[in-house]
Amino acid sequence: MRLLVVGGGGREHALCWAFRREDPGVDLWCAPGNPGTAELATNLPIAADDLDRLADAADMQGIDLTVIGPEVPLARGLADRLRAEGRAVFGPSAAAAQLEASKAFSKDVMASAGIPTALSRTFREVQPALEYVDRHPEPLVVKASGLAAGKGAIVCPTRAEAAAAVRAMLGDGTFGEAGATVVIEAFLEGEEISVLAVTDGRDVELLPVSQDHKRLLEGDAGPNTGGMGAYSPVAVATPALLERARREVLLPALEEMQRRDTPFTGVLYAGLMVDGAGIPWVVEFNCRLGDPETQVVLPLVSGGLTDSFWRVARGEGVAPIARHPTEASVTTVLASRGYPDRPEMGAAISIPRQLPAGVMVFHAGTARGSDGVLRVAGGRVLNVTAVAPTFVEAQRLSRETAEAIHFEGKVFRRDIGWREAARLTGLP
Ligand code: AMP
Ligand code: GLY
Repeated sequence: MRLLVVGGGGREHALCWAFRREDPGVDLWCAPGNPGTAELATNLPIAADDLDRLADAADMQGIDLTVIGPEVPLARGLADRLRAEGRAVFGPSAAAAQLEASKAFSKDVMASAGIPTALSRTFREVQPALEYVDRHPEPLVVKASGLAAGKGAIVCPTRAEAAAAVRAMLGDGTFGEAGATVVIEAFLEGEEISVLAVTDGRDVELLPVSQDHKRLLEGDAGPNTGGMGAYSPVAVATPALLERARREVLLPALEEMQRRDTPFTGVLYAGLMVDGAGIPWVVEFNCRLGDPETQVVLPLVSGGLTDSFWRVARGEGVAPIARHPTEASVTTVLASRGYPDRPEMGAAISIPRQLPAGVMVFHAGTARGSDGVLRVAGGRVLNVTAVAPTFVEAQRLSRETAEAIHFEGKVFRRDIGWREAARLTGLP
């Protein structure tokens, strides 16, 4: 199998790691990759959204299967482009990727399919949006409809803040084209989980469920980020809840996409808010694997990932994905000072030569200079994943290894999995 992974973050490093673990003999390429993927694959210096050069590279290397990590190339039609050239691709068409790339579209699909989600309205003009804010109870959530790297949702405790967010997006264009349409929605209470469903457009096979930590700071304070850490499994994701998610969210969304003649294949990521009554409310759909969710769940998969992606890419249906029945996994993200607004770049990174058993360090924003030194080259720099027989042990290993890695300006949360820890100890 000649396999190309598109992307260059922690998610793509974890994908390369998982593919090689399943088949040590696999021929792997990664575009553009990072210093972590360079240890497992041949990196191609091509940006993840350079459709022409990626299509040429797939041709030149005789790639059998292309797995597309990030949302931007999916929304720009990379999967369509490669399929038109007769290639097997794991990832949705541009039309189907609208489930993530346009929140207005996504809410429309949910409404048509009767999927539980927050009451909302979509606006392009400031005045009607402000009138809507005025008539609705606090708190409200104001969202840029387009792609904004996880930073386009503003949770507003008061109407005044919601009005300010509306003026910023629709009036001042703070999110550019992504914020030219906004979705204003009711605030959902509950606990958030990330459900990643591998799908051929009809059927789903779930990866282990995880919980991301979107806020920058410990205690879930500070701004929203792309994700500062995650853990899996999550106690609230009971078999009964996942069955509801399958029946009330995932399958209806897929059916509605088929009805619209834009079937969705690849990974449908449902961000769900589980309320006290066990109802899975959709916060968002994404059209791909999560980051850092991938880094925390793939180490729990014990087989069938490559085969499952291969079958979906060839229209042969979904295949079972096996998971380790007992182990727990915790990922801590190491970010650079200033993330998410203006991360500092360039600091030299030192990683202990000998990592504890069960610990993996997945690279994200790193680069190796011509001097061979590993340096900070992005906002989220490294992911420390620890797999252990218990959650508590995985959490300790991930945190201790995060402490043992050094670079100037390192920022990380020591409380990844705090909800699970509180459940286990019974303390608030
Ligand atoms: P989104 O970009 O839609 O995933 O939103 C980013 C984050 O904002 C989510 O992961 C939630 O933590 C929070 N959020 C978004 N929408 C809501 C909502 N309706 N109620 C509560 N929290 C929300
Ligand atoms: N971690 C959230 C996301 O991948 O969208």
